[in-house]
Amino acid sequence: MTVDDRPADTSTMRIVHAALRRDLERARRALTGQPPPDPRQRAAIARHLTWMMRFLEAHHRSEDDGLYPVVRARRPDATAVLDVMTDDHHAVGPAITQVEAAAATVAGGGDLTALVAALDRLSDVLLPHLEREEQEVMPLVTACMTHGEWHAIEQEHNLDGKSKSELGMEGHWLIDDAPPDDRAAVLGLVPPVQRLLLLHGFGARYRRRARACWTPHRRVQQTCTTSVVADADVDAVWDIVRDPTRVTEWSHECVTCEWIGGATGARPGARFRGGNRQGLFRWGRVCEVLSVEPYELVWRTVPSILYPDSTEWTMRLLPVEDGTRIEQSFRVVKGTKLEPVYATLLPAHRDRTASLRRDLRRLAEISRHAVDPHNAAN
Ligand SMILES: [Fe+2]
Ligand SMILES: [Fe+2]
Repeated sequence: MTVDDRPADTSTMRIVHAALRRDLERARRALTGQPPPDPRQRAAIARHLTWMMRFLEAHHRSEDDGLYPVVRARRPDATAVLDVMTDDHHAVGPAITQVEAAAATVAGGGDLTALVAALDRLSDVLLPHLEREEQEVMPLVTACMTHGEWHAIEQEHNLDGKSKSELGMEGHWLIDDAPPDDRAAVLGLVPPVQRLLLLHGFGARYRRRARACWTPHRRVQQTCTTSVVADADVDAVWDIVRDPTRVTEWSHECVTCEWIGGATGARPGARFRGGNRQGLFRWGRVCEVLSVEPYELVWRTVPSILYPDSTEWTMRLLPVEDGTRIEQSFRVVKGTKLEPVYATLLPAHRDRTASLRRDLRRLAEISRHAVDPHNAAN
C-alpha cells in the first residue's frame, strides 16, 4: 500500500484550525492589552486580520466545494452532520464581514472597540465549528477517502493558482509556533525544491509581519494628564508646588533635586537638577522653569548629548468646593531615537498615569498637613 492509498491523514485541517485559533487569541490579547497598541501595531493587526478573513473564507469554500461533496456522496449517513457544517459556514460568513469592516476602520485610525466586539462574535460562531469539524467530520473523511484523494483536493482548492508569495505567507503562518510534527506535515505539502524556496524565501517577510502585529513597539508614554482633589487650601498646595526642588517629598521617582546656576527659586529660565531612581536605574536631568504664576508651574527637561529628548511638565492648581484640584501633565516635546531603549530599561515609563496619580495623592496628603501660608502669616 502506498502512502496515497492509505486512509486520509487530515492533520492539515487541525493545523489550519490551530493557526486560526492562535491568531484570534493573539489579536484579542494585543488589542485589549495595556498599554493599548500604538497606531502602527493597530494597523498591522488590522491588515493581518483582513488577510486572515480572506484565508478563512477560502478555507470554507474549499470544504464546501471540494471536500464535503465527496463525503456526502460516499457517506449518506453523514448528511445530518454535513448539513450542520454548511449551516456553520453560513453563520460564520457575516461574522467575517463584520471583522473585515471593523479592521478597515481600525486601519484608518478608528476605534478598537468595534473590532474587539467583531472578533468576539466571530469566535462565538467559529470556534465551536472548528471543534465539531475536527471531532465529528474528520473521522468520517478518514474512513471514506484515501490520502491521495485528500491531497488532490488540497492541491486543487488550496494550493493551485496561488502565487509563491501567497504560499510562502500561508506556509509560514501555519508553521508559526507549530510543533515539529505539524511543521513537517505542512512542509510536506509541497515538493522539496519549492519547499526550500518557500521556507527561506519568505521567512523574513512573515517574521516582519508577525513582529509588527504581536511585538509591541516599545515606546514611552508621550502625554499624560492626571489629577486629584486635595483636602487643602490652594495656597497650602501652591507653597509646595511652586518650589520644584520639593518634588522629592512626593515623587515616586525623583530622589534629589537642587537649584543650579545660582537660581534660588522658580522664575522663567531658572534651572534645577533632578536625580531620579527607577528600579536599578539612576539618572539625572537638568530642568528649566518655563513659566510660573499662581497657580501654574511649567518646566521642561533640557536636552543634552546623553539625553537628547525633552519633556514639558505642568503643575496646575484649581480651587474647588472641597479643596484644591491638583493637575499634573506632561508631554514629550522632543523625541529621541533612544526611545525604544528608554522603554526597555524603564518599562514603568510606558504608562506612568497610575504612578503619577499616586504622587499627587502623596502631595495632597502633605498639603493637608502643611501650615496654610496665609493663616500662618495672620
Ligand atoms: Fe475547516
Ligand atoms: Fe469548516
